[in-house]
Amino acid sequence: MKKKELLYEGKGKRLFKTADENLLISEFKDDLTAFNAQKKGSEKGKGALNCKISTELFKLLEKNGIKTHLVETISDNEQLVKKVDIIPLEVVVRNIATGSLTKRLNIKDGTVLPFSLLELYFKDDDLGDPLLNDEHCTLLNIASKDELEVLKNEAKKINTILKSFFKDKGLNLVDFKVEFGKDKDGNILLSDEISPDSCRFWDINTNEKLDKDRFREGIGNVKVAYEEVLARILDNN
Ligand code: TMP
Ligand code: ASP
Repeated sequence: MKKKELLYEGKGKRLFKTADENLLISEFKDDLTAFNAQKKGSEKGKGALNCKISTELFKLLEKNGIKTHLVETISDNEQLVKKVDIIPLEVVVRNIATGSLTKRLNIKDGTVLPFSLLELYFKDDDLGDPLLNDEHCTLLNIASKDELEVLKNEAKKINTILKSFFKDKGLNLVDFKVEFGKDKDGNILLSDEISPDSCRFWDINTNEKLDKDRFREGIGNVKVAYEEVLARILDNN
């Protein structure tokens, strides 16, 4: 399947049309951004790492009953995906408090949450991706009540599957963000990506950060950390 014209360019990926109107090619970029792109950088090979990581995780989720947009990986940094209309929500699930949650509610960094906390953010860069509740979603016509229930249930299932998978790999899944889209038949599919750009992983023994916080906080060795995450995912022991 060949790339045709560029349909959309985001911070981490480009989406191209294909000869099939129901399929797109998603190309993972090496660019890194943080704080609504106020901080910018690039790591050669990061796109390919995220493409591999996301492919492995989407396949794992598919095996466990989560419907996703992934068709197949077609090169180091490209996936063939089903065309969906993205629901403009960033669905975040948190197991351990860090990042914006600690700042917003003054919760001590590293606090293990008594339950997995689900949050919805409006995908709107101009507004700075504000936190929303269900009624805001209804008010803004972002998703129906039924669709919200589906999104939330899917996100919680994804958390259960990934948390246990990563625990076996010696990583704590601290939190993550997922996005969903609707295909031509109205099915809600997990879309976008799941990678160290969109998740936080802490080593279970050392609490070392193995995700984009290394870029956000200027810790360095970003690519080495992403390589470590991929190696652990692929490790069958
Ligand atoms: P936060 O603590 O900054 O709100 O981030 C929560 C999770 O969502 C974390 O795993 C990083 C991810 N995330 C994104 O994927 N994209 C974003 O734009 C933001 C702000 C967070
Ligand atoms: N993805 C967002 C940005 O590019 C924020 C983040 O991940 O920290 O700015």
